[in-house]
Amino acid sequence: MEITVLLENSKFKNSNLNIEHGLSIFIKKNGNNILFDAGGLGESAIKNAEVLGIDLFKIDVVVISHGHNDHTGGLLKFLQINDKAPVYLKREALNSHYSKRPEGLKYIGMDDQIAKKYTDRLNFVDKTVKIAEGLFLVPDIMDEFSIPSSNCVLYVKENGELVRDDFKHELFMIIEKNDNLVIFSGCGHSGIRNIVNTARDVLPDRKIESVIGGFHFQAGSLDYAFAEKEEIEDTAEWLKNEVDGQIYTGHCTGKRGINLMKPILKDRLERIYTGMKISF
Ligand SMILES: [Fe+2]
Ligand SMILES: [Fe+2]
Repeated sequence: MEITVLLENSKFKNSNLNIEHGLSIFIKKNGNNILFDAGGLGESAIKNAEVLGIDLFKIDVVVISHGHNDHTGGLLKFLQINDKAPVYLKREALNSHYSKRPEGLKYIGMDDQIAKKYTDRLNFVDKTVKIAEGLFLVPDIMDEFSIPSSNCVLYVKENGELVRDDFKHELFMIIEKNDNLVIFSGCGHSGIRNIVNTARDVLPDRKIESVIGGFHFQAGSLDYAFAEKEEIEDTAEWLKNEVDGQIYTGHCTGKRGINLMKPILKDRLERIYTGMKISF
């Protein structure tokens, strides 16, 4: 399995890749080309794929972790370029999502043109599904652990009314590496511990080899909606014991989250960045 981070909030100093707040990961596995998320609003993931020589026309399948625009901002452009790859997402991802900020309510949902123009490309995931050899999507995430407190600024419109987001629009992806599991989270709004334990429920008696994605210890690029220190450290301790190998994170984990996790996870924590390549 070969992984290329097409977009994360950061990059190496001299890199000519584009960055913005968002996440997008390209995965090559058993001859399948998978696009996991397509952030952000400035279509950086799409531009970076071109710079990196990744032919978007050859993507076989797209997985959208949830309906926020930092994970879907490049999707419309992608659908214009690639006319065949199915897009897997939860139906709830199409709902209207908002972030409450001091300056007012900000729309952070998907572009409604996607549902209007490309309905035939959308595949709604309502139960765990195997979409390719060794590749699973899991739409129902358990609530054993409390969800990150930094979710508090996130809202969704239901029947015209603005309510706190329950993240029913979130799914996660599992890729088998031999018998072990590699877990991909988008923002991890539902809590990375809940995601890992749900993976264990779905595919029992496997080692969790690695976790890749955001853990949502910071709301978007906002510098005031942080998760509690204790909650971050507890999560790091838990991951240290429950995950076998590397923890790759970035994006909404935020710098503070990473700095608090690092002394606990040490070399097992690796910060992802735009252009990073990981081989399993
Ligand atoms: Fe999100
Ligand atoms: Fe995000």
